[in-house]
Amino acid sequence: MAYLEVRNISKRFGGLKALSDVDMSVEKGEIFGLMGANGAGKTTLFSVIAGHVAPSAGEVHFNGQRITGLSPSRICRAGICRTFQIVRPFAGLSVEENVRVAALFGSGRKRTRVEQARSVDAALESVGLSGHRAGLAGGLTLSGQKRLEIARALATGAELVMLDEVMAGLNPTEIAEMLETLGRLRREHGLTFVIVEHVIGALMSLSDRILVLHHGERIAFGTPEEIGANAHVEEVYFG
Ligand SMILES: Nc1ncnc2c1ncn2[C@@H]1O[C@H](COP(=O)(O)OP(=O)(O)OP(=O)(O)O)[C@@H](O)[C@H]1O
Ligand SMILES: [Mg+2]
Repeated sequence: MAYLEVRNISKRFGGLKALSDVDMSVEKGEIFGLMGANGAGKTTLFSVIAGHVAPSAGEVHFNGQRITGLSPSRICRAGICRTFQIVRPFAGLSVEENVRVAALFGSGRKRTRVEQARSVDAALESVGLSGHRAGLAGGLTLSGQKRLEIARALATGAELVMLDEVMAGLNPTEIAEMLETLGRLRREHGLTFVIVEHVIGALMSLSDRILVLHHGERIAFGTPEEIGANAHVEEVYFG
């Protein structure tokens, strides 16, 4: 069984089928890209995996454990954390306090206070926010807030991190820095990432494999080269 195994996941919102029978397998240490036009079901799939939305059908397994139906905090403690497409830090708390809250959220992993403090420092350092730790989270630029989202996910102690459009709205320099950060996190910490990104160049250069969703259905899967050469993907995604 793969590290993260999504089997036959469907999700209905009333009459709308946001996900139809979606399968996805992610291997440990890979960067797995999820692509699709607006409304394709990408965020819904993240929410199902992270336990924020209950699927109408299907199962999710992580690290050999069935996690379907567990609460987001239990799933976080199992080792999966996601960021939110719309960043939502505690704007009135400092950058460091935001990351500390996340570290506490992961505290069911039986980490000592010292280990938690260390994970806060390491998370801030790895996204380049150490110098901003005392400032208010609400005072960060968009790029800073995206980095804070990632730091919060890391500080929970998660081993698989799902990033929902962390490059949206960033300028080319900030995107290049983000690519560098994510590549380094994988190399140095052995983290596994599932990333949703409309910045296609970034998605293609980072991902080992890419799954394409369209209206909730899986329409293509393969290496970035295979996806780039797929005529059906080009038609539905690039129009
Ligand atoms: N809580 C909800 N209630 C009702 N419909 C929802 C809900 N969440 C998502 N949807 C619908 O499900 C479909 C998939 O939405 P989702 O947010 O997963 O798409 P997405 O691929 O993340 O799109 P985007 O690229 O715009 O972020 C859309 O039609 C959306 O309107
Ligand atoms: Mg989305």
